[in-house]
Amino acid sequence: MKIAIIGLGFVGLSLTSVLASKGYNIVGIDIDREKCDKISNGISPFFEPKLEKVLKNGLKKKLKISNKYSLINNCDFIFVTVGTPQNVNGSINLSIIKKAISTIGENLQKSKKKPIIFIKSTIIPGTIKKVILPILEKKSNKKEGKDFGLISNPEFLQESSAIIDTKFPHVVVLGGNQTEFMKKAKKLFTKLHPNVPIINTNHQTAEMIKYANNSFLATKISFINQLSNICQKIPGANIDDIGKTIGLDPRIGKLFLNAGPGYGGSCLPKDMKALINFANISGINPSLLNAVEEINIKQLEQIISIIKQKLGDLASKKITILGTSFKPNTDDIRDSIAIELIKKLLKKKAEIIIHDPKAMKNTKKQFEEKINYAKTINDALSKSQCVIIMTQWKQYEKLTKKQFKYMKTKFVIDCRRMLVKKQLDVDYYAIGLGKIN
Ligand code: UGA
Repeated sequence: MKIAIIGLGFVGLSLTSVLASKGYNIVGIDIDREKCDKISNGISPFFEPKLEKVLKNGLKKKLKISNKYSLINNCDFIFVTVGTPQNVNGSINLSIIKKAISTIGENLQKSKKKPIIFIKSTIIPGTIKKVILPILEKKSNKKEGKDFGLISNPEFLQESSAIIDTKFPHVVVLGGNQTEFMKKAKKLFTKLHPNVPIINTNHQTAEMIKYANNSFLATKISFINQLSNICQKIPGANIDDIGKTIGLDPRIGKLFLNAGPGYGGSCLPKDMKALINFANISGINPSLLNAVEEINIKQLEQIISIIKQKLGDLASKKITILGTSFKPNTDDIRDSIAIELIKKLLKKKAEIIIHDPKAMKNTKKQFEEKINYAKTINDALSKSQCVIIMTQWKQYEKLTKKQFKYMKTKFVIDCRRMLVKKQLDVDYYAIGLGKIN
């Protein structure tokens, strides 16, 4: 049994590494040659805990990394994990996946195998039937259900726990026609993940499940963020106690109830926009989804107004941002709320100094000389007039009173309530805590 994985981003490289480390015969394909060279040498192009170790382990076994699509010709299973970025109007851009599918089709024409093609990329309902299947059949001159299988297999892994999530998914979704190929796919996943529920449905439902999942997570976050704003008006109220308690109700569930500066990253904001766009063109007013998005945008405005209340005009004010990655344990800054905040503060001519344990390089690529990069947390705090904790990196939990001593104005905005229990001798403002005057 040979498996190809096309597109070596977070999803593709995690799947490639995990399956290869288990001893499966794997070929990981990406059009970016430089990326392929790095990966072949056991180096991950991005930081993801445990990934390099698993990758190196896989490379000692039956793993080949290449930019040649022709290698799919003798594969039984082909996973498509390429990106579906966002267009300006919020819809998804299909150019990358169309190209990948087209090349798979061309190669399929020459292949003697009858492979199953799994689509893991996030795509709007109807895309497999309307776009992917016609391209595949046309380019391969073959028929789905007879010469090859095509199955929607959305992914639910989270960055920063990609390896664990790939090894132990909570669910497997297989969407497509009920053919022999589907039976074979079920067999494969039962072998890979015994005891994990398999949801067997059609293409369009599987495609929609992915958006349902991410938009529900975004809704939970905006819900708790709106409540946290209300809490801020109730002296002494604490959003964490509220989140923890309602999370104990099994109908609600404890995860994704952490109030903060809003959701970011390469998935939730993009998927929300795509679903809103899709609802609108389908004639459905997505009023709830619109509200979720609006709350997310307003969360950042609220932080800026708190800074302005304290510092007045922000021109030349020294502001420190702790954490630029969109969440801890990643170097990914795509659609990070911290990055948005920096952009907005720069427009107000503030002087920005940042610190992040992993994302300094990526942040530097984005802002170059426009902001300052601190080597240590202490350097970041020195002479600062305002510190904003944006990402809940463990390092920031350890901050002590002494470290704030050299700030010019001891003003701290803690978006993650990491320092709530500490006596810091600073003007402390935390999202979701009602200040006692
Ligand atoms: C998200 C989903 O959680 C995954 O299930 C999905 O597979 C993935 O998108 C995807 O579609 O590829 P990810 O983008 O890695 O995963 O990030 P999350 O862990 O969902 O965090 C997203 C944002 O929400 C972060 O900015 C985080 O700080 C924020 N968040 C999360 C909160 O503000 N509060 C919470 O309680 C949880």
